[in-house]
Amino acid sequence: MSNKLEGRSLGKTFTRRDSSLTVLEDVSITIRPGEFVSIIGASGCGKTTLLRMLHGLVAPTTGEVLIDGERIDGPTRKRGFVLQQASLLPWRTVLDNVTFGMELDRIPGAQAKARALDLIKLVGLTGFESHYPSEISGGMQQRVNIARALAIEPDILFMDEPFAAVDAQTREVMQAELLRIWDIDRKTVVFVTHQLDEAVYLSDRVIVLGARPGRVREIVRIDLPRPRTLAVKRSHEFADYVDRVWKLIENEVVSGDESPSGASA
Ligand SMILES: Nc1ncnc2c1ncn2[C@@H]1O[C@H](COP(=O)(O)OP(=O)(O)O)[C@@H](O)[C@H]1O
Ligand SMILES: [Mg+2]
Repeated sequence: MSNKLEGRSLGKTFTRRDSSLTVLEDVSITIRPGEFVSIIGASGCGKTTLLRMLHGLVAPTTGEVLIDGERIDGPTRKRGFVLQQASLLPWRTVLDNVTFGMELDRIPGAQAKARALDLIKLVGLTGFESHYPSEISGGMQQRVNIARALAIEPDILFMDEPFAAVDAQTREVMQAELLRIWDIDRKTVVFVTHQLDEAVYLSDRVIVLGARPGRVREIVRIDLPRPRTLAVKRSHEFADYVDRVWKLIENEVVSGDESPSGASA
């Protein structure tokens, strides 16, 4: 089967006047159509940089990115990006935030609205269409963010710690919701997190990055059956996967500047 997304020998060095920092070195990954892949690693190991390179937002210093077998040289509107902080426009309602990307794509108003209403329903926010971002919770804002990313019908969805800012309970609900939505048409998803249990729960494969410079340490296939309910998290198989991934990044954590969470007993 052909690859949806491929990173070949990706490297990134940030240079400033007096110094340079090599964040990633020789990272090669392939992602198949419809796969849900997570990238994990300690804070500062280059996850966001890698995701941005795969998306086309950041140019690699070495190597190349291919989407559907073609080399990319910048972002396109067909790649959805969901950030850690819900980045909604505060002066627009929920509905108007979701239609925003479609307006840029010049989709006729009535069509955009109908699609937005469907997506708002999909993320469980029917009834909040005319609310402003400041009037809804962080978890709800992040749902709007997901609806907005899906509205442009992305080929690949790139998500950078999208649930980092919501409380633990909401996070669990959002994870299950994301899987439910993903299951409908199984888009290709590249998901960055530093929460090990989140990565295991969501993914077909987990790419574990080592730090300084970031390289692919190991790729762990998660053979838990789908659809996965939250109850999966209480199984022994699940705990074994989390434990295995934890051991892979344990050494990095000691030298890293922040501990990953999610592996505590
Ligand atoms: N635009 C940039 N210029 C200079 N350094 C950067 C830039 N972006 C990221 N970095 C550095 O690259 C390293 C990895 O950052 P990042 O990719 O955000 O890691 P992560 O997402 O895993 O926490 C950090 O040391 C960060 O300070
Ligand atoms: Mg990051």
